[in-house]
Amino acid sequence: MQQYIIGNWKMNGTKAEAQKLATGFLNRIQEATRPLPHIVLCPSYPYLTSVIEILKHSPIDVGAQDCHPEKSGAFTGDVSAAQLLDVGCKYVIIGHSERRRYHHEGSAIIRRKIESAIKIGLRPILCIGENAEEHKTGRTLHIVSQQLASDLPSDQKPHEFLVAYEPLWAIGSGQTPSLKEVEEIMGLMKYELSTRLLGGALIPTLYGGSVTAENAADILNLPHVDGLLVGGASLKLDEFWEVINASER
Ligand code: 13P
Repeated sequence: MQQYIIGNWKMNGTKAEAQKLATGFLNRIQEATRPLPHIVLCPSYPYLTSVIEILKHSPIDVGAQDCHPEKSGAFTGDVSAAQLLDVGCKYVIIGHSERRRYHHEGSAIIRRKIESAIKIGLRPILCIGENAEEHKTGRTLHIVSQQLASDLPSDQKPHEFLVAYEPLWAIGSGQTPSLKEVEEIMGLMKYELSTRLLGGALIPTLYGGSVTAENAADILNLPHVDGLLVGGASLKLDEFWEVINASER
């Protein structure tokens, strides 16, 4: 499977910075001499159209960081999957731990968002992962398996979405699980997905949380890791390009 390297820019930067980064990646892509992974950039809402315009003839896709489950209506401040598709997004991150934490999103709304994104033709990237306490008390596998069961709608097709394992304590902290832990959890995710859905082993499973140019290759080389969801490092042109180049497939 061709790997995925996805940059989540979160609520960072200015329009000029977003345009500069997108142009920088475009130039690197045009000069690339080796096969590249799927690359997806997820800027914040106001910069989506500028970034999409810059990357429109390139193999880099653009995604959003969230969506509302309804197609349209009186939902002040929200953006629907249909609107994201309309401006040219191909992907949308759903259930990121920062949405769960700061916007109190739970399984019911996450499932609806995934359903609405798939229905309209966007590929959701579902984020799951345990918190520090759950990790310390050895409950990671249980939490991950529980989240897969509760957050995923049951009747989806494998090519329609991706799943990212992002331990909350690893996000933005400079800490990562050991390679052995990542391998074990990603293996469990593949197993759970393949028992829940026909062809579920084909669902790309990504790792996210303090990915850097230094650790990217080791993580990407693990079995069952089909890509990376990168926060901070995706805002730095040279570093993210190194992460992209760490991918083997
Ligand atoms: P960092 O790479 O900054 O730890 O963020 C990870 C993340 O939350 C990506 O969605």
